[in-house]
Amino acid sequence: MAGPRSDDRFAQRARREGYLSRAVYKLADICEEFTLIDEGETVVDLGASPGGWTQIALERVGEDGRVIAVDQQPIEVEDDRVTEVRGDITEESTVEAIRRAAGGPVDVVVSDMAPNLSGNYSMDHARSVHLAQTALDVASQVLRPGGATVVKVFQGDLFKDVYDEVGEAFAFHKGRKPEASRDESSETYLIGDRFRG
Ligand SMILES: C[S@@+](CC[C@H](N)C(=O)[O-])C[C@H]1O[C@@H](n2cnc3c(N)ncnc32)[C@H](O)[C@@H]1O
Repeated sequence: MAGPRSDDRFAQRARREGYLSRAVYKLADICEEFTLIDEGETVVDLGASPGGWTQIALERVGEDGRVIAVDQQPIEVEDDRVTEVRGDITEESTVEAIRRAAGGPVDVVVSDMAPNLSGNYSMDHARSVHLAQTALDVASQVLRPGGATVVKVFQGDLFKDVYDEVGEAFAFHKGRKPEASRDESSETYLIGDRFRG
């Protein structure tokens, strides 16, 4: 287990509390504020490796819930309630594997997916928007009416387009930059609840 690398206070806290990434506190804060992910639910976690968000989702869904964890990289959480789907979310075969693993509509789709950073701001922004739109497309295919989503996207020219897409698909939508998100990072999380179906 590689564990969180840097030495900031969220990384230290994650190590101390046995979490795989400092990113756990972003999802934990959003779920608390917006009361997302309840006991017994099924959650699809896109861009799940190494598995920090999966750990948080498992805590929230309890013994009767489950998590479908999707990434090209391995998931380091070993738990019977986790189904790992290894693949690139932009490929239809991966979406089909999620549908098969879910076996029916799911309650929540979360995405912490990020592109490999090139250092070119507008290129990284555009790639992040593409991943966020892909996550929203997957959410619209697998969510039950009334379901919820949390999707990461980098700020930039196209941000408003993605924000508006969440507003069209969900009766409630908001953006949040959780405390654990680094100041220098342009990432924002879009929250959609009450999927219109
Ligand atoms: C910030 S990390 C996720 C950290 C995770 N939420 C956690 O708490 O452990 C972003 C992940 O998105 C994944 N990712 C990026 N593009 C992807 C794609 N097209 N399909 C699947 N996963 C992707 C990367 O492999 C990486 O593991």
